[in-house]
Amino acid sequence: MEAVRILVIDDEEGMRLGCRKVLERRGFEVKTAADGAEGLSLLRSGGIDLALVDYKLPDRDGMSILDEVRSEGLDVPCIMITAYATLESAVAATKKGAYDFLAKPFTPAELNAAVDKAVEYIRLQREAKRLKEEKKRVRLEFVRIVSHELKAPLATIEGYLTNLLEGYAGDDPEAWRRILERCKLRAEGMRKLIEDLLDLTRIESGSKESRPEEMDLAALLDDIVEVFEPQAERKKVVVEKEYRPPIPMFADVGELRIVFTNLVSNAIKYNREGGKVTVKAAREGDEVTVEVSDTGIGIREEDRKKLFTEFFRARTPETRNIPGSGLGLAIVRKLVELGGGRIEVESEYGKGTTFRVTLPARREG
Ligand SMILES: Nc1ncnc2c1ncn2[C@@H]1O[C@H](COP(=O)(O)OP(=O)(O)O)[C@@H](O)[C@H]1O
Ligand SMILES: [Mg+2]
Repeated sequence: MEAVRILVIDDEEGMRLGCRKVLERRGFEVKTAADGAEGLSLLRSGGIDLALVDYKLPDRDGMSILDEVRSEGLDVPCIMITAYATLESAVAATKKGAYDFLAKPFTPAELNAAVDKAVEYIRLQREAKRLKEEKKRVRLEFVRIVSHELKAPLATIEGYLTNLLEGYAGDDPEAWRRILERCKLRAEGMRKLIEDLLDLTRIESGSKESRPEEMDLAALLDDIVEVFEPQAERKKVVVEKEYRPPIPMFADVGELRIVFTNLVSNAIKYNREGGKVTVKAAREGDEVTVEVSDTGIGIREEDRKKLFTEFFRARTPETRNIPGSGLGLAIVRKLVELGGGRIEVESEYGKGTTFRVTLPARREG
């Protein structure tokens, strides 16, 4: 932890020197003030983390310092030093925001105990502040990336439409069609990104309610593979199924559909012409394991660690022309964890990749 700077406001010189000696020996930075005005001006100038404030000062009472500290929003916990530690004064000072008390006369051990407690509090506050700032930074970064990801295709669509309006395609219906098809492709990409974002925020905010039910995983996988058939055919990728129906589970079908749709989609998307995708599934005891393997472009080791991070996309010559949001695997991992399972990946760059999802066959709740 960074140094803690303590201010001692007391009119008795012996008190100031005594506190300084004890606290400096503990490695604290100590400043002192002999009256309220000096103390307040030091507090206002910043750089003080904790103040020890005498209840009775020559120019004002210690309580009014608490008032000022609070009304000026100075973020400094104060320990009141009082000669007559009555219950009333304790209650009054606490109401004004005093962090703690020390009754005069006190021993070095008592001083240390009070200061240690306050320092622990300061440490926790600093940590909370740091986390808050980190959260803000992450949120801003998220907004920045999303805005960029939406702006780029929108600008492209705008460009195409401008060209059309300016007569670029003339009267040739084929030219019109080509341009409109490109617009549509970009719009589709934007819609998918927004759908992914909605999935992600629903999961993150905890508002996504899982609805587990009796289901057959084999039937779900059959369905997903069928949906991707045209896409696989276009890329001359063969999809093989290695599982025996039924595979009974008690799980949220919607969530599993998102998980395996993403994995199968990636296995085809990041494959090569004439490649293969294998979907394996089996139930063993209380667990179900699904493996989606491909003979595609593979993932470099340094990229493998970041795969499940939001917006991460590997940048290699092979992936350059493949569209995507980089959100799919982040969503997959969150859903798998929500379902009490885990996901692993094995890959060899240039050879292929296998994602393995293990889930409890019967989800609780
Ligand atoms: N089966 C795979 N083979 C090779 N690379 C993959 C595979 N699956 C995912 N990746 C890499 O991980 C990145 C993140 O995947 P994902 O989160 O699904 O986002 P997207 O597919 O939208 O890019 C991809 O951009 C790609 O670089
Ligand atoms: Mg994907």
